[in-house]
Amino acid sequence: MGRGPKKHLKRLAAPSSWMLDKLGGTYAPRPSPGPHKLRESLPLTVFLRNRMKYALTGKEVTAIVKQRLIQVDGKVRTDETFPAGFMDVISIEKSGEHFRLLYDVKGRFTIHRITPEEATFKLCKVKKCQLGAKGVPYVVTHDGRTIRYPDPNIKVNDTIKFDFQQNKITGHLKFEPGNVVMITGGRNMGRSGVIVHKERHLGGFDIVHVRDVLDRTFATRIGNVFVIGEGAKAQVSLPKGKGVKLTITEERDQKRRQKQDA
Ligand SMILES: *[C@@H]1O[C@H](CO)[C@@H](O)[C@H](O)[C@H]1NC(C)=O
Repeated sequence: MGRGPKKHLKRLAAPSSWMLDKLGGTYAPRPSPGPHKLRESLPLTVFLRNRMKYALTGKEVTAIVKQRLIQVDGKVRTDETFPAGFMDVISIEKSGEHFRLLYDVKGRFTIHRITPEEATFKLCKVKKCQLGAKGVPYVVTHDGRTIRYPDPNIKVNDTIKFDFQQNKITGHLKFEPGNVVMITGGRNMGRSGVIVHKERHLGGFDIVHVRDVLDRTFATRIGNVFVIGEGAKAQVSLPKGKGVKLTITEERDQKRRQKQDA
């Protein structure tokens, strides 16, 4: 019977983007409520224990985060199930490491190592752009930030470059054909390419057509499209593979070639 919010998450119900095994236990770390939705987030426990292997157990993760060693977007986070999400920068000052959370073409979170210079900003998709109390314009981004007095050219579905050290917007990218995007949901999650055109569907979902560098086009809903650069040049570095999805035979051939070179 309902007695308040759910506090557990069964292993099998965990998002597949975490890449947990089925038999590793009964439960999975349930992300705390926060800037990203449960199914679009990666709890710090999964990051530190299952991916980075910096901890062997959940208890060790707690010990690490409580020492204030882990920063997400430049803020110390001491909650071991803090929900990190797409584009978030995780910094470990003690080891001088910085990572950006992105998706790979199979729709899983990849932990992409970045330079300290790149670790000062992130890209945020604009979800809402409105006038607030006393006529103050503001935008709300995909990671739950509210930013007051943005550039008036910033519209819904554009992307802003947000510097979290200076705490301000340092650039913006329009949602326009010709700009490079990354897909953040659906079957094409993790793929990257340039926008070809947008179809309006009244009373339905707007569809965006995207072409990748291998000249393959695919279509997805506008809600899944995240602009990451102007023209073909992305403003953040992309993980291995650069968001290009290969067919399984191409993948096999690539693996064979890598094996031969090694
Ligand atoms: C922005 O995206 C939403 C879906 O996420 C869509 O409903 C809306 O029409 C889009 N707005 C513009 C201006 O393209």
